[in-house]
Amino acid sequence: MKNSVLILMAAAAFLTSCGPKSTAVTGPKYSSTEKIAEGKTIFENSCNRCHKLPDPAKHDDQGWIKTLSRMAPKAKLSDEQHQMVYDYLASANKK
Ligand code: HEC
Repeated sequence: MKNSVLILMAAAAFLTSCGPKSTAVTGPKYSSTEKIAEGKTIFENSCNRCHKLPDPAKHDDQGWIKTLSRMAPKAKLSDEQHQMVYDYLASANKK
């Protein structure tokens, strides 16, 4: 039982590190407080133009990859800004 948990964790780590690289953002990149704070600012300034600012807890990390790859072009974010907003959301959705 213990072993299968370890194998699952190793598989998850493998999948997240070697997942498809087709979209710009596939996982966390920045972890510095400054970049995450910048992501929060961009999020607050760019994501409430067409609808209310969404709750970061609305999606888990995987869900935000999908939603943000649809919304970042709408908000005209650069890849860099897209990444920072993603990292902010991924850090803010943890309860
Ligand atoms: C140009 C207008 C526009 C901008 C800017 C915009 N959105 Fe949206 N958003 C929409 C529309 C239209 C919908 C509803 C249709 C849909 O889901 O695609 C939506 C739906 C959503 C949803 C609900 C659907 C889901 O997958 O949960 C979330 C969350 C969301 N947007 C997040 C964001 C974030 C984060 C940003 C900033 C990066 C953003 N949006 C910027 C137009 C916009």
